[in-house]
Amino acid sequence: MTDRMNDFDSKMDSDEDDGCEISNEHMTTVSRHHFGDESDKPSFSISIIENIKEEYGLFVWPCSVILAEYVWQQRDRFPGTNVVELGAGTSLPGLVAAKVGSNVTLTDDSDRVEVLENMKRVCELNKLKCQVMGLTWGVWDASIFDLQPQIILGADVFYDASAFDDLFATITYLLQNSPGSIFITTYHNRSGHHLIEFLMVKWGLKCVKLIDAFSFLSPYKATELSGNIQLAEIILSSEPAKETSASMGK
Ligand SMILES: C[S@@+](CC[C@H](N)C(=O)[O-])C[C@H]1O[C@@H](n2cnc3c(N)ncnc32)[C@H](O)[C@@H]1O
Repeated sequence: MTDRMNDFDSKMDSDEDDGCEISNEHMTTVSRHHFGDESDKPSFSISIIENIKEEYGLFVWPCSVILAEYVWQQRDRFPGTNVVELGAGTSLPGLVAAKVGSNVTLTDDSDRVEVLENMKRVCELNKLKCQVMGLTWGVWDASIFDLQPQIILGADVFYDASAFDDLFATITYLLQNSPGSIFITTYHNRSGHHLIEFLMVKWGLKCVKLIDAFSFLSPYKATELSGNIQLAEIILSSEPAKETSASMGK
């Protein structure tokens, strides 16, 4: 269940004198996301600051809600692990991982300062200590070499085909840098194409788990979401699969 509180922090830059027409408005809202086994008694909630005018990194996409719920349901896997979230945007899955005991690094495009700043604000708002860093896919800044995550998260990061190779390069590097690690992603298949399966093979990766996102969501969360969304767990092809095998696209 998600609650949305509008007008949390509305900064009006308008110089209109009738007080009605608003221009250059930076409207932010706070949404609250609840996690728990019983819908009426959540174990905890996470508050996310969103900007309704922003298209990508300042909005909680359905894939993020779904991946965050998966992290909650799989919470036994997370305590004590290093987690890196790629293209984290508003960072809901990473924040849930931090809440259940992971050491979390939230990352997004190094050039998107407003997104990175918002991540810091969201961590403060939820009193969670996460590292926030710029990590642009396919770019090898010094900071990436120190990352050794056991779990890599990515919600709705496969949306622009021209960035897929750069993204796979980063994922593959992180998986190689941390043997035994796994990439868990939620993918909104908007076009129905199979480019991701092809690139996964090209980059020496394999899918060890593929499930329909709506198969594990509780009815009260599922009713608020829609789309052809799948959750995949991906590892290096050279590593033995720990999860039930499944292939992408089926
Ligand atoms: C569709 S949004 C998903 C955001 C968030 N994960 C969610 O599901 O709510 C895609 C995210 O990827 C980030 N992104 C896009 N291109 C990127 C790149 N080349 N390197 C790193 N991050 C990138 C965007 O800034 C944005 O936060």
